[in-house]
Amino acid sequence: MNFAAVSPERLPDLLRAMPKTELHMHIEGSLEPELIFQMAKRNQVQIPYSSVDVLRAAYAFTDLQSFLDIYYAGASVLLHEPDFYDMAWAYFLKAQADNVVHAELFFDPQTHTARQVPMATVINGLHRACVDAQTKLGISASLIMCFLRHLSEEDALQTLQEAKPYLDKIIGVGLDSSEQGHPPEKFERVFAQARALGLHVVAHAGEEGPPAYIWGALDVLKAERIDHGVQAMHDTALMQRLAQERIPLTVCPLSNQKLCVFPNLADHNLGAMLDQGLCVMLNSDDPAYFGGYLNDNYLQTFAALPLTATHAYQLACNSFEASFVPEPQKQAWRTQLDACFKLYGA
Ligand code: HPA
Ligand code: ZN
Repeated sequence: MNFAAVSPERLPDLLRAMPKTELHMHIEGSLEPELIFQMAKRNQVQIPYSSVDVLRAAYAFTDLQSFLDIYYAGASVLLHEPDFYDMAWAYFLKAQADNVVHAELFFDPQTHTARQVPMATVINGLHRACVDAQTKLGISASLIMCFLRHLSEEDALQTLQEAKPYLDKIIGVGLDSSEQGHPPEKFERVFAQARALGLHVVAHAGEEGPPAYIWGALDVLKAERIDHGVQAMHDTALMQRLAQERIPLTVCPLSNQKLCVFPNLADHNLGAMLDQGLCVMLNSDDPAYFGGYLNDNYLQTFAALPLTATHAYQLACNSFEASFVPEPQKQAWRTQLDACFKLYGA
């Protein structure tokens, strides 16, 4: 592949067109203000914002917690199976427009079961949308159930128990919510149980928290991927391990910017991580809250950093490599990627 032959003017279109996976997207974080108000009305749920514009104006975050408070308030309008379906379907339409070929979606059941929404309602609604994404849009999609780390391990164990009738509808478990003060070690037993059930395991670590949380996610939880992980740059030994073992980091630049992890996109360490050989790729995290879906993350990040067609190819390849699908599928996507790059002169 002759990457130097791709003209810089055509790079944005190539970024849009290239096939890619999305591996770090909280489906509740794709709930747009318009849909929040629509669902609040049809479900007769009160929300403490008078209009779409007032709600959107509240999206001025200073850190992870300031975002989570609004994110959980937004999710409170989800009550019935069609709500979960509609939310996921709206995301899949955006994903299709961004040439996403495969998505592994996070969901937060505890946010819903705490409001007496049954686990069946959550998983069946999301799963039905995943099935339709495949049959109607040609996007393969699967679900990863996240435990909220600000809650107890007992609560997480109970959640895993409640999910047991639906294990054929989820591929793995993850760990999200307030990071600081809630190290991975808190969830050692529930992750061991999930692994014993044959589930994949991933964990948010090193978004705001220290590199020690990434070590904990790897060594104690046996995480196969690290979500965010951008704080790894402060630990040389950790960087070496991530590179050597090709442990993927699901990086979310617009999220990092909006939650003030980096002051500006131009300060993001994505380029440095790529150049050090890490298996990183881009993701949108909570696109309705952070001002952009997957292609917005690619376009804005490439506009802010000195990244090239070589980096674009690497990011797309990494997004295939890091996904939980069989190797022949990854190879088929690489072939598609090569064809796309050839169209743009490579
Ligand atoms: N970090 C932690 N928890 C989350 C996030 C995130 O980026 N998005 C939704 N829940
Ligand atoms: Zn996240």
